[in-house]
Amino acid sequence: MRRIATSIILASLCTLPVYGAEARNFEDHILPLLREHCANCHRPGKTRGGLDVTTMEKLEKGGSAGPAVISGLAENSPLFRAISHIGNEEAMPPEQDKLPPHILAAFKLWIEGGLKPTASGLARESRAVVQLTVDAATLGAPATPPVFIRSLPPRADAPQLVRGLPVMALAANPWAPIIAVGGQDETVLHDLSDGHRIGALPFAAGEVRVLRFSRNGQVLLVGGGRPTASGKVQLVELQTGKSLTTVGDDFDVVLAADLSPDQSLVATAGPEKLVRVYRVADGVLVWTLKRHADFITSLEFSPDGKHLASADRAGGIFITDASKGENPRLLAGATDAVNQLAWRSDARSLAAACGDGQALLYDPASARLVAKWAAHEGGCLSIAYSREGSLLTGGHDASASLWKESGDRISQFKNCDTAAFRVGFTSAQNPLVGDWSGDVREWTPEGYEVRVFSARVRN
Ligand code: HEC
Repeated sequence: MRRIATSIILASLCTLPVYGAEARNFEDHILPLLREHCANCHRPGKTRGGLDVTTMEKLEKGGSAGPAVISGLAENSPLFRAISHIGNEEAMPPEQDKLPPHILAAFKLWIEGGLKPTASGLARESRAVVQLTVDAATLGAPATPPVFIRSLPPRADAPQLVRGLPVMALAANPWAPIIAVGGQDETVLHDLSDGHRIGALPFAAGEVRVLRFSRNGQVLLVGGGRPTASGKVQLVELQTGKSLTTVGDDFDVVLAADLSPDQSLVATAGPEKLVRVYRVADGVLVWTLKRHADFITSLEFSPDGKHLASADRAGGIFITDASKGENPRLLAGATDAVNQLAWRSDARSLAAACGDGQALLYDPASARLVAKWAAHEGGCLSIAYSREGSLLTGGHDASASLWKESGDRISQFKNCDTAAFRVGFTSAQNPLVGDWSGDVREWTPEGYEVRVFSARVRN
């Protein structure tokens, strides 16, 4: 196998320089421009897009897309993006020519100069930028497996569990023997090489509903929150267990999330029926998709990073261009809720677990349904692709099955206590299944149990 050295700039937290000399200030330079070109539609009593531009505070509070200006980062600020026609934000002012270059330059200098309020006012410190981006050409097997933390300190405030909580989220590292199991306010890590419980990563945002390892296995994405209140995604460095950054400011729990293969974007979705894609570097919302008609249950970037697939409770599946959210295409054929999606490692097949018990396979290029079969009585809840292209499904019938893409069953695993809610493959490509009673079981492709990790055992 060809092994490519990974060149990664991991989490170098740096503060951008603040340019003082040419800085513009809000009162003298920016407010007059905003009043002339924008305040017609963005002022108290008429806040189109939720945005009022008449004070610094209102600008920083922003509109429906969050803060309109981000100190130090013009090209990440929705206001600057809108007026300079970057990305797929609505161009501002609408249906008019782009503002002349000297006006764009004034906004740029003001933002990059740290949002000075007045001539004598102090420039803001620039927002920290998290640099996690990896070269997408390095996404094969790493030369050395990712290093991971072997033990986490016990939590002083650990919740006392009387019984196990359902395995709401489950992820296995693609290159190292470690799995992550989501629970209430925490993610529990287990070492598969010896079966020991590494410990729990606290998640202050609430329930953990989605877990994913980055393609290189070095970062763990933790998504979740509090139903009807808030949703967040945290990125954790596996080597240290430390949080690298938090993105997302959703108004409901995050049910689905993913980190793009090059680690530059995070997508989130949930009951709000809206896919939001944020930039990891600064947390800015880059694009949204408003096509889903019901709760979004699952989303995943294609392994080549080109597309984002998302699915909902009404059977809607969309594939959208990942960089700007353009060109969403509907994949028809699901006749019930889609519970989970999974891409094959070559990005040429997309699998869906369906509420009516079927497993569906699509050709993403043509958006055609190419295969389907009855996988689980009472509903197919989860689905995963192995590296080699076999499929694993879990269902309401408390079983999990390994399949060929033809729909021929390779093996079946019936040791779950309750509904097989989450499935995945370990780095050694053994199937994993997490059930409603809180147990996670590893088994062999032949269908024999290797071991069980119980949520009820704590240290
Ligand atoms: C004729 C009315 C009008 C004018 C003038 C106008 N806007 Fe807008 N603006 C809108 C509308 C309508 C929206 C909502 C667009 C949407 O959500 O699809 C919007 C949205 C925005 C947003 C996104 C807010 C958010 O958080 O979603 C920004 C930023 C913005 N405008 C900046 C500006 C700036 C800067 C100017 C002046 C250079 C300007 N607008 C002039 C009508 C206007």
